[in-house]
Amino acid sequence: MTDKKAHLTIDGINTTIELPIYSSTIGPDVIDVTSITKNGFFTFDPGFMSTASCESGITFIDGEEGVLLHRGYPIEQLAVSSDYLETCYLLLNGELPTPAQKEEFTAAIKQHSAVDPSIANIIKSFKRESHPMAILCSAVAALAAVYNDEIDITNEASRKLTAYRLIGQMPTLSAMVYKHRQGEEFIAPDDSLSYAENYLNMTFGTAGKAPNVSKTIAKAMDRIFVLHADHEQNASTSTVRLSGSSGTNPFAAIAAGISTLWGPAHGGANEAVLEMLEEIGSVENIEACVARAKDKTSGFRLMGFGHRVYKNFDPRAKVMKQTCDEVLAELGLENDPLLAIAKRLEQIALEDPYFISKKLYPNVDFYSGIIMKAIGIPTEMFTVIFALGRAVGWYSHWDEMVSSPYKIGRPRQQYTGSPKRDYPQK
Ligand code: ACO
Repeated sequence: MTDKKAHLTIDGINTTIELPIYSSTIGPDVIDVTSITKNGFFTFDPGFMSTASCESGITFIDGEEGVLLHRGYPIEQLAVSSDYLETCYLLLNGELPTPAQKEEFTAAIKQHSAVDPSIANIIKSFKRESHPMAILCSAVAALAAVYNDEIDITNEASRKLTAYRLIGQMPTLSAMVYKHRQGEEFIAPDDSLSYAENYLNMTFGTAGKAPNVSKTIAKAMDRIFVLHADHEQNASTSTVRLSGSSGTNPFAAIAAGISTLWGPAHGGANEAVLEMLEEIGSVENIEACVARAKDKTSGFRLMGFGHRVYKNFDPRAKVMKQTCDEVLAELGLENDPLLAIAKRLEQIALEDPYFISKKLYPNVDFYSGIIMKAIGIPTEMFTVIFALGRAVGWYSHWDEMVSSPYKIGRPRQQYTGSPKRDYPQK
């Protein structure tokens, strides 16, 4: 709380409404509007463009400056100097782990990486051509059934164990979804491998054969996980919070987040980017594609460009671009035709007055899609990988919410329907 207050005057109301202002550590302070309902008004903010839905100490974004901090640490530093499990620990606990804490955390995640046999049966029951996000969403929701009786959301130790289970089992589930679609046998988690190596082995390995995972590819995969780990109150995280605010099982709340992530305006964009690049087909067709994106009547947008919060280069996109170059060099794919289209598109969009004036920069999905394609991950699996990395962010926000007093989320509306009327007499 600050001593500063906002004063609101409303036509027809004699008194001035005094609204308290709360300070943020960094970033905009917030005006507490809760008291205005007493005067018969709601605030109106479609898309929550100006609404802080909660207080949070996990992630900070300055979209104008292109800043992303997790627990105060810049994402560029975490991406280069940390790794995914350390970042998970940081997001969940607020501080970087000591070496002993990291060892213990890593061991706990590995210990909880195998999934209940009932889940394998659920995954196998899906048609092979089902979208992987639909299968993943159901598999994570099914974890709620497996652990429901054991979870006590008011108990810290129970919440910690649930975090281990979620982070441990997301790679296993994601790989199982892939294997099922391929019609291949599931591969069990291997404790001797790192988190990313294990995911890659369970995805691309062959049952009964020793793991053979490239260190460079595993490093790139780990970096993709780090760069997706959390992103403040985005649509899926807000969904997890809203869902969790009813006191529901955390796996059910995470499944709701997965559903939200699936959409092309959110996590589904990386899939949409690749589809768009394939549709463009060759560098000569780019101009027409850009013209279509600028034409409002076309309903078409350049996928992988623009962001609700970033009106500058997304800091994650910068690191992702560098990783993209490294992976393509390692795989000898610098001359890949799809990459040539991506590079030219990026250049045109960065120079075009339409994209400049609307501050539409390439976002993280633009580059992550290209990396995943190079690694050999099918396009439909891209959003699954996003979900895998984001699980810790969703969980950290849910945990932050339920560890303090909270209210069920219940927005109101501006009603524009019919006034009260009587049912016609028959
Ligand atoms: N291509 C062309 N024009 C665009 C694009 C785009 N990719 N994105 C925004 N615009 C234009 C809009 O038409 C609008 O123009 P107007 O001011 O003349 O009406 C203006 O830029 C602002 O767009 P909004 O939709 O109001 O911006 P909003 O913040 O609501 O949307 C979003 C952000 C959804 C990400 C949008 O930029 C978009 O659809 N991008 C493509 C999909 C994408 O890449 N999504 C990934 C987001 S990142 C993530 O989830 C990790």
